[in-house]
Amino acid sequence: MILVAGSANLDFVVRAGHIPAPGETVLGHSLATHPGGKGANQAVAAARAGAATTHMLLALGADAHAEPLEQSLREAGVQAHIVRCADTATGTAFICVSDDAENAITVAPGANARLAPHHLPPLDGYSHLLMQLETPLPTVIAYARAARAAGVRVVLNAAPAQALDDELLALVDILIVNEGELTSIAGAGGRVRDALDRLRVPLVVVTLGARGCCARQAQQFLLQPGFSIEPVDTTGAGDTFCGVLVAALDRGAPLASALQSACAASALACTRAGAQTAIPDNATVERWLAAQPAPGDARMAALRAACGLDN
Ligand code: RIB
Repeated sequence: MILVAGSANLDFVVRAGHIPAPGETVLGHSLATHPGGKGANQAVAAARAGAATTHMLLALGADAHAEPLEQSLREAGVQAHIVRCADTATGTAFICVSDDAENAITVAPGANARLAPHHLPPLDGYSHLLMQLETPLPTVIAYARAARAAGVRVVLNAAPAQALDDELLALVDILIVNEGELTSIAGAGGRVRDALDRLRVPLVVVTLGARGCCARQAQQFLLQPGFSIEPVDTTGAGDTFCGVLVAALDRGAPLASALQSACAASALACTRAGAQTAIPDNATVERWLAAQPAPGDARMAALRAACGLDN
């Protein structure tokens, strides 16, 4: 059983030719709203991946933006523990998605900023606590401390990027980061491998976009090459990866197979618009994976080189 504690945002998404530079105005094509927020996206991904039971602790405002977020969690089968904040807005995110599927995101945290240490439910029965950094850092630390004391594995997706102190890192069992987040935590300089060597977390997984991902556990490196797709919208791809990875580990899958499912699900999520709307279920991922060619030596060699593991 998994508990996700984190953010929920209503995403306002404008598609445009390109993402505006500072001071630039761009005329977009369309506006859509989608349920989002890194925490809620990860909870939906875990539930659709077939995690036995996925619970989510989140905070929502008393406004019309809350209902579509609750509905999306409900429809995915996530059991929500909702902190209602009467005097603040539900979290929102303003996202520009370019024609080449890249995005730029600005979050107005609203109620997410109200999630506090005393809101954590009893942790009996949970195997994993999955968190991100869109809720206050003191709350994340307090939850990690409680989970460690209760014997629940602490999984941190350190997004959005920020420097983290050793107190939090010492409480984390599994850290999931992209390259930028890895640099913020481990410091700039060197290859992915060198940055990983500077971190003492037992299992660190680095997502590398279309190239795939790299995990380091007990001084061993595991690589999973990415899959070839035509991306439409990469929003929520990292969240899909996190939710699917934790769901697979929760049901006892070996790490290599959990990484493969997470990479496949996040690739598929890039082929549809929106965050939660694009997250595939387990059956879809399995079917798609079965039809994929083996990665081939060139892809594996490129990933090895990108991580600094080629010598
Ligand atoms: O990771 C994607 C998510 O980041 C979006 O859904 C947005 O709400 C922000 O939290």
